[in-house]
Amino acid sequence: MDQAPCPPRLPRIGEPAPAFEAESTHGVIRLEDFKGSWLVFFSHPADFTPVCTTEFLAFADIHQALRDRGCELLGLSIDSIFAHIAWVRRIEEKLGVRIEFPVVADLSRQVAELYGMIMPGESKTETSRCVFVIDPKQTVRAVIYYPLTTGRNTDEIVRLVDALQTTDSKGVATPANWRPGDKVIVPAPRTQDAAEERAKDQGVECLDWFYCRKSL
Ligand code: BEZ
Repeated sequence: MDQAPCPPRLPRIGEPAPAFEAESTHGVIRLEDFKGSWLVFFSHPADFTPVCTTEFLAFADIHQALRDRGCELLGLSIDSIFAHIAWVRRIEEKLGVRIEFPVVADLSRQVAELYGMIMPGESKTETSRCVFVIDPKQTVRAVIYYPLTTGRNTDEIVRLVDALQTTDSKGVATPANWRPGDKVIVPAPRTQDAAEERAKDQGVECLDWFYCRKSL
């Protein structure tokens, strides 16, 4: 009996980011080249399209802010390297913005399949607007998927990197709409004894035993 094809196994939070080697606008690039840095790896549907052009301008705008946080930026679509080169040159010529980050040309779709960037129900020929935040040990730490028709909010991507880095460095969580400088969430106690200790802790502001905040 014929077996139904297995659905692709998408990278999940907490798992190793899938290794790849691919041609990019900066030459051959490998995931392992980014080891030791944070990485925002995003896909866009197609070169020379309007929403993607607005996104490239917005990604260029946050590129330095990401670098300041030890985070590299890498794009991908299933266009050719020549289309990528022509499009980034056109963006610079017409819109005055230089695209400094590399863009993977994934005509074979190998990387896009590995990262589950193609949503066949939406388009079989374009990558959706996916973002993977990958940490310096190359673990997937966050995943965002947006449809073809909605341009992403790049401020949110910087905020997400800030939140993940704060979690790692301070052992805390971050509340809804958190911004650097705001109070953070102290992880909830996981035993009765710890809950009693928490109740006595003067260094934290508790709205309830499980919901405590503090300033950094
Ligand atoms: C765009 O970038 O404008 C776009 C690309 C693919 C589908 C819809 C919009």
